[in-house]
Formats: sequence, C-alpha cells, structure tokens
Amino acid sequence: MDRYALFGNPVAHSVSPQIHAAFAAQTGQALRYEKREVAPADFRSAVDDFFTSGGKGLNVTLPFKADACTYAARVTPRARAAAAANTLWQDSDGTLTGDNTDGIGFVRDLAVNSLIRIDGKNILVLGAGGAARGIFGPLLEQHPARLHIANRTAARATELANCYGEHVTGGGLENWPDTRFDLVVNATAAGHGGAAVAPPAELLARAWFGYDLSYGAAAKPFLDWARTHNAARVLDGWGMLVEQAAESFYLWRGVRPNTTEVLRDGREWRP
Ligand code: ATR
Repeated sequence: MDRYALFGNPVAHSVSPQIHAAFAAQTGQALRYEKREVAPADFRSAVDDFFTSGGKGLNVTLPFKADACTYAARVTPRARAAAAANTLWQDSDGTLTGDNTDGIGFVRDLAVNSLIRIDGKNILVLGAGGAARGIFGPLLEQHPARLHIANRTAARATELANCYGEHVTGGGLENWPDTRFDLVVNATAAGHGGAAVAPPAELLARAWFGYDLSYGAAAKPFLDWARTHNAARVLDGWGMLVEQAAESFYLWRGVRPNTTEVLRDGREWRP
C-alpha cells in the first residue's frame, strides 16, 4: 500500500491521518497515512529515509515548514513566496519537490465553503510569521481592495508588505491605518498563550468576519474577542485544515476529494 505521513513536532494533536483516511475511502485510493514526531535535528534524515524506503508523500507541519522549503530541490512558486512547504513528494525523475497548500486551503474555505467574498474587500491580517506568509499569495490573487499586515514587531510587517504591491501595507499594533476592515484574520501565535491580538473596534466594518488560522483551544481567545465585537461570522481554521489536506491529496494522487463530507463528519473527531 502507498505510504504517506505527517512529520512535525508535536503531532499528537493532529487529525490529518483521519482526514486522509476519509479521503482515501471516499475516492477508493489504497494508501496509508501516519503521523510521526520527528526531533528537530533529524528532519532531513527522516525525510531521506522516508522516501528511500518507498514513501510516496509527506505533509510537514511546525516547526519544519521552512526547512522543508529549503531542503526540497524544487519548489512551486507559491511555496517559494511563502518560504515554507507543507507538502513533499518525489517527481517522476526522483527530485524532492515541495509545495504549500495552506494558502489555497484558506481561500477555498473562505470563498467556497463559507461564501465570503474577498475581492474588493479590506483585509487585516494579524501576524507576520510563517502562518501569515503562507496565505498572502492566494489571498492577493482574489483581488482584495486593501491588505494591511499588523504585527507586534512592526518592522517584520512592513518588510513583508514591501514584497507586495502598494495596496499591501504593514505596521505595528499601535499605529493603525484609517480603514474599516471587512475581514480580520488572526495569524499570530498569541492564542497558544491564551491571548488575543485585538485591533481597535472602530476599525471593524459593520458586517465583518473574523477568521483564526488555528483551531481548537488556540483559536478561542481571538474568536471570543470577535464574538464580543459583533462579528457577523467567526471561523476557525478547521475548514482550512481540511482544504489544505485535500489539495495535498490531489497533488499526490491526481484525484480531488470532495471535502463536504469530511467537513461535516470530521467535526466529531476534530480537536
Ligand atoms: P508561525 O509560523 O506560527 O506564524 P512565527 O513565525 O513564530 O510562527 O510567528 C508568530 C507570529 O505571532 C508573529 O507574528 C508574532 O509576532 P512577532 O513577529 O512580533 O514575534 C506573533 N505573536 C506571537 N505571540 C504573540 C503575542 N503574545 N502577542 C502578539 N503577537 C504574537
């Protein structure tokens, strides 16, 4: 049976094996998908061992996404732009290839599953780390009117914004632009410590949406804050997780699973 795996540290919480098992059952693909906690120093040798022993494809999560992008001999433009890869496989010529499906997973969850329009909207992204970088390319392809990146370390946000066009701006958590935001995306790691990064309430549009890229307990502080600030809708990263998995599955197998069933049924085993 074809073997796939998730490498990360930690991985105990991950439900990716259940998601991929559901996709495999639905599409009639014979495969096995496991998760493996890899010591940081062993990442590259673990990747080599996996493929040498016949493994077909890897998902990579924290803290290895940047290393996966550097280690892959070939990367897609969207992985290069994000400086992070979450999906690895060997091309027909044996070349280790990396892609990043996080951003497209995020956009699909917004635009297709949640019917939230991005074009012409003002978007605020909180955070300028790896999670934020992963979504910018696919997000900008949807033509928002404006994208502002706000980060605790302002220089990191302005540097990132300078990589894009003039409708992308960056700054710290003190100087906010004079804009009403339709969508606020939390891409900070603050929720892991039980805190929420909160923009001033007067910057929120009348019917605004709150989206946290994480899910489970880590998403709660931001989503609670969004609810108390009258967000028309709040979403955690569950849909994004399922959609990025579907895109990886498609890259590996050439078959696109229907995510509707997993989005619905998976709520029983999601963290
Ligand atoms: P990831 O790959 O998960 O994005 P990262 O690269 O370490 O991880 O980035 C974490 C992000 O969360 C950064 O934007 C970080 O802000 P800094 O660039 O100033 O470090 C942000 N972050 C983490 N903890 C935070 C907190 N308690 N308050 C505000 N922002 C926080």
